[in-house]
Amino acid sequence: MHNLFILGSPRKNGNSETMAQTVAAELLKKEGNTVEYVRLNKLSISPCQACGGCNTSGNCIIKDDMSELYDKTDQADRLFLVSPIYFYALTAQIKAYIDRCQARWSRKYLLGQEFRKNEQRTGYLLSCAATAGDKLFDGPILSAQCLFDTLELQYGEPLLIKSVEPRTAIQQDPEKLSVCEQYGQKIAAA
Ligand SMILES: Cc1cc2nc3c(=O)[nH]c(=O)nc-3n(C[C@H](O)[C@H](O)[C@H](O)COP(=O)(O)O)c2cc1C
Repeated sequence: MHNLFILGSPRKNGNSETMAQTVAAELLKKEGNTVEYVRLNKLSISPCQACGGCNTSGNCIIKDDMSELYDKTDQADRLFLVSPIYFYALTAQIKAYIDRCQARWSRKYLLGQEFRKNEQRTGYLLSCAATAGDKLFDGPILSAQCLFDTLELQYGEPLLIKSVEPRTAIQQDPEKLSVCEQYGQKIAAA
């Protein structure tokens, strides 16, 4: 299974990336699993321009680093959307990626193009935040569900961690690391 981790934080090796790396390490213990990371902050992905170009062609007219991400997204058997919470939302980097998937939405809903529809493919949201509010992840969960539906991915149980602010907060917390490990093991075993 090919596992694609879309990293949305600008902070390298921060909390959300630690979550991703810990989960990925568990997945790699199972033969046949491959892991690929895409760090969005290093790429140039323009926001969707709502030009309607993809309505008829199914392809985005903007030529930037998203072009190769469409293929990577299609090839993933498991897609991990990895983002800290910024103002109760996903980061701008992840949101640009999601919005550019409108081209896939057009293929599915406007052009009736089915893609890997009956395959067992799943999307997972991995997210973290500094505070502990009840509704922290509500918006990002809805965005992830909407994206995964568009990409023909089943919605997998998310991994959501609260109360982590400094970059190494999760790295230094054995309990939280253990939660990430167990989560990865569960997915690897499924
Ligand atoms: C611009 C910005 C906005 C943030 N907004 C929130 C927020 O609304 N709620 C919250 O609990 N934490 C918020 N945080 C804190 C981060 O979610 C938190 O530090 C997280 O652990 C960062 O993950 P990272 O290390 O993967 O970047 C914000 C941080 C930044 C930089």
